[in-house]
Amino acid sequence: MRTRKYRVTAAVLGICTLLAAGFAFTQTAPGPGSDAHPATATTLELYPLPVGADEAVQRGRYLAMAGDCAGCHTVDRRKPFAGGVPVETPFGVIYTTNITPDPSHGLGKWSFGQFYTAMHEGIAPGHRYLYPAFPFPGFSKMPKEDVQDLWQYLKTIPAAAQENRENGLRFPYSFRPLMFFWRVLFFRADTYAPDATQTAEWNRGAYLVEGPTHCADCHSPRGFMGQIKSGKSLSGGVVEGWWAPNLTGNQVDGLADWSVEDLVQYLHTGSSPEASTLGPMGVVVEDSLQFLTPADLKAMAVYLKSLDRSSIHTPLPGGGTPVDAAKGRQVYDDNCSSCHLWNGKGYPYAPGIPGISPPLAGNPTVVDTDPRNVTMAVLAGSVEPNTIHRPLPYSMPGLSGFAQALTDDQIAEVVNYIRNSWGNKASGISAEQVKAMRLARGIPEPVPAKPAKQ
Ligand code: HEC
Ligand code: HEC
Ligand code: HEC
Repeated sequence: MRTRKYRVTAAVLGICTLLAAGFAFTQTAPGPGSDAHPATATTLELYPLPVGADEAVQRGRYLAMAGDCAGCHTVDRRKPFAGGVPVETPFGVIYTTNITPDPSHGLGKWSFGQFYTAMHEGIAPGHRYLYPAFPFPGFSKMPKEDVQDLWQYLKTIPAAAQENRENGLRFPYSFRPLMFFWRVLFFRADTYAPDATQTAEWNRGAYLVEGPTHCADCHSPRGFMGQIKSGKSLSGGVVEGWWAPNLTGNQVDGLADWSVEDLVQYLHTGSSPEASTLGPMGVVVEDSLQFLTPADLKAMAVYLKSLDRSSIHTPLPGGGTPVDAAKGRQVYDDNCSSCHLWNGKGYPYAPGIPGISPPLAGNPTVVDTDPRNVTMAVLAGSVEPNTIHRPLPYSMPGLSGFAQALTDDQIAEVVNYIRNSWGNKASGISAEQVKAMRLARGIPEPVPAKPAKQ
């Protein structure tokens, strides 16, 4: 099962009489493959295209895809945009809302002006401050014409009479007016202004990255009030235990060594010679980026490659001494070799036909400098995105995760083993670090000992 987990945004500086509090929300939305959001042949049905749609509607649909609106606002694919996706926070649950044209539960009675205020300023009718679990700081960058096209498109979505669910936020976090203080400190409504010293392509990329596709939401370090650290946007962040890497041109851990072509391929299909998606990024590719044109993806890559900033690499919590890799041999033979083979070569990909399992030997994702994502893939599982350009015609078992089959020691052992076998060489992870990742994701403790085989 794959879940969509973002740590998104949100924080409130509460200055009530006695209260000064800040907090960060964590979002958990079911992704394709989960029960609530079953995977299908393509994701196109998430973005229905009405017959005879005019150009404005088609442009709006494209922007909806770029903004991943349906990805976050859909539980049941037969009712796209009808909301109800739970957003788990340490302070309770927020549900995404119905944004179909239904007059009672959706946006049916909204005017364009009200929609624009929600997108641009994060304020809904009745002066209701929206929580930044809705990524309006990115959407705010969209010029009015683009929001107008998006509005034209949303009006064509079949209305779904699905009631919005009551948020389960505890007081005082449930008290929306407190968002006022967070907004004063961390938010300015701001339309993207092209940089005249740059090319049209660069500007297009900058707009898409900073605006509708809201990459910074996941790929940035955050301060104690959930705000993106000033001047550190896109330099890497932690998303529900996953590491969303540095996307700047930083030489050490950024995209300096990626070619523009590889970056485009990765964003389009979830896989490139440098990396393949494992967790939340695969969901972003499947629900959103795969629909963008190659020209737009190239523009985004050109923009990202031009960023030259320092990075803040949030270290793995947990401490401890890395577990001996040699011990992982047994764990590997028992649990992994049936699919990835004893020599780590997997069942190779034939042209046009997806393999049964990827090679682990020489796999850049396996030997990534930060062991966090490969560990999370083993703990929580990983599924490749199902895209139009790289469909998976055969049902792949995926990797459902070994959190409940293997102890923290065993997971550390097998991760260190695959990172240091068959020519692979990379840093190790400790059992304490595995435990910290398990706790961060709320993955239950494994059954202490396996009952002896009969
Ligand atoms: C990362 C998840 C996410 C994405 C992507 C997202 N939304 Fe939302 N949206 C939310 C959440 C959560 C809320 C509820 C916020 C609240 O209650 O304060 C919301 C609320 C809204 C609202 C306010 C509705 C109301 O009844 O008050 C509108 C309008 C909206 N979203 C439109 C969009 C559009 C259009 C897109 C795509 C361009 C989009 N959203 C993409 C999570 C998302
Ligand atoms: C929902 C959170 C989220 C969003 C939104 C998101 N990413 Fe990611 N991204 C991740 C995570 C987590 C990883 C690494 C693990 C994985 O594959 O899921 C990742 C990995 C990547 C990588 C691989 C980097 C490497 O060094 O291996 C690239 C490139 C990337 N993302 C680009 C983007 C771009 C460009 C956008 C915006 C269009 C974006 N991401 C939006 C979470 C996100
Ligand atoms: C039932 C077959 C199966 C078993 C057993 C299995 N895997 Fe996998 N594994 C896969 C498939 C299929 C993928 C591709 C899915 C993906 O990349 O998201 C994969 C992907 C991976 C990846 C990500 C590689 C990449 O490039 O994305 C890692 C790491 C991994 N497996 C490690 C392990 C380890 C360690 C074990 C044993 C503890 C294991 N696998 C057991 C089938 C299996």
